[in-house]
Amino acid sequence: MAKARSQYVCQDCGAVAAKWAGRCEGCGAWNSLVEETVQRAPGGLSGSGGKTGGKIRFVDLQSESQPRPRLICEIAEFDRVTGGGLVPGSAVLVAGDPGIGKSTLLLQVAARMAAKGADCAYISGEESIDQVRLRARRMGLAEAPVRLASATSVRDMVASLDQAEGPAVVIVDSVQTLYIDSLESAPGTVSQVRAAAQELIRLAKKRGFALLLVGHVTKEGTIAGPKVLEHMVDTVLTFEGDRGHHFRILRAVKNRFGPTDEIGVFEMTDEGLSEVANPSALFLAERRGNIAGAAVFAGLEGTRPLLVEIQALVSASPLATPRRAVVGWDSGRLAMVLAVLEARCGLALAGQEVYLNVAGGLRIGEPAADLAVAAALVSAATGQEVPEQTVIFGEIGLSGEIRPVSQVELRLKEAEKLGFTRAWIAPRRKQAKGKSGGRSGGGQNLAVEEIAHLQDLVARLAAPESPQSGARIGRAQQSAY
Ligand code: TYD
Ligand code: MG
Repeated sequence: MAKARSQYVCQDCGAVAAKWAGRCEGCGAWNSLVEETVQRAPGGLSGSGGKTGGKIRFVDLQSESQPRPRLICEIAEFDRVTGGGLVPGSAVLVAGDPGIGKSTLLLQVAARMAAKGADCAYISGEESIDQVRLRARRMGLAEAPVRLASATSVRDMVASLDQAEGPAVVIVDSVQTLYIDSLESAPGTVSQVRAAAQELIRLAKKRGFALLLVGHVTKEGTIAGPKVLEHMVDTVLTFEGDRGHHFRILRAVKNRFGPTDEIGVFEMTDEGLSEVANPSALFLAERRGNIAGAAVFAGLEGTRPLLVEIQALVSASPLATPRRAVVGWDSGRLAMVLAVLEARCGLALAGQEVYLNVAGGLRIGEPAADLAVAAALVSAATGQEVPEQTVIFGEIGLSGEIRPVSQVELRLKEAEKLGFTRAWIAPRRKQAKGKSGGRSGGGQNLAVEEIAHLQDLVARLAAPESPQSGARIGRAQQSAY
């Protein structure tokens, strides 16, 4: 029996310290170190342990046998995010806040796969079998031939899954409930989560089943976050959304078998999650015509264009340090856009409170949103609306120049499809411009205007009828404050 000793493990990042400290040296989190007992060489559960001692066997890179086909569930939003279906023998982590809908999504995936003939096992460590059945019945999936189990012991799971005729897909909900009896720490601690996942992943590779692990993310860091699992699994999908909204977004943040940044959009209903084939229409559905401080951004999520409304509010502040609040965008990026507006366009926003919101609970990471954000801000500050049916995109540089963005045609096409008639865009890249000369504009119904500098945008919003008139901008700006 190996000698046990104590160590302190950060429940946020997994860093190990010999002594307890209030703050983790690895990630800087407070109160995240938890004492865990470790045994040297804890030994695996699935046989061979550490005692192979022999030689490794090399094989040729090229192989005669065809790789096994990917497992498709025909929920298009899910299949696209996984990169065209689950790869047999791969491990996927589905991470998200508690209550966001991970169990619901995976139960639906299991039911659809099972209905197509794949052998699916759903192991729940959080809910009893009756609870899962109740949920399935509510979603109209009670007839699906999914194998259900309620278990938390990894040893039991390995014992039942380590067989030739095992299932093709195994869903484990959630990693935080798993425990390995050879470790002394409690379920949910970093050591348990890591060891349990490792054991299951090893088995998935050996037996060739696709493993889907559910992991809760908590802000407090008291429960081992899926952060420590990210490098162990092949694919990390995050399931996100705003509790106040009914949209849910599945996003691939890491994928060894497909593109990242791909998203799947779902809508929550009483019968579970339903696919949203045209998310732009959904995100713009609540738009109330033209108001000052609103601008529509033609964004891109993975391969798919997505139109969203960006809303800004600028108001006088009684505080010495006015508030700046952002929902759905990077606050550092907002600070940059505000600074450029101030320094290059003379917009005095320093004494104003600024609020920015991406409508619909979506989170945008693209720098291409800069120009739309600037338009919403200028419009909010001047009270001048962005012209009706206009989409905007472009990245802003520190000198106020507007930089080209990718996939211009795709964005324009989506805007045109949704009935937009005007586009304010970044200057197109030189070679792309030459090539697409004939196609420029995307179509007949869309007037495309390239904006080279932020001042150009401010000019349009200050005096829309004569965008070139610099003098009027100055006056319009002054009257706004
Ligand atoms: P659940 O899937 O249990 O969340 P998680 O596994 O991420 O913790 O969903 C939380 C609750 O929301 C649950 O009571 C069911 C409900 N729900 C719906 O009613 N419809 C839906 O489409 C979804 C996703 C959830
Ligand atoms: Mg759940």
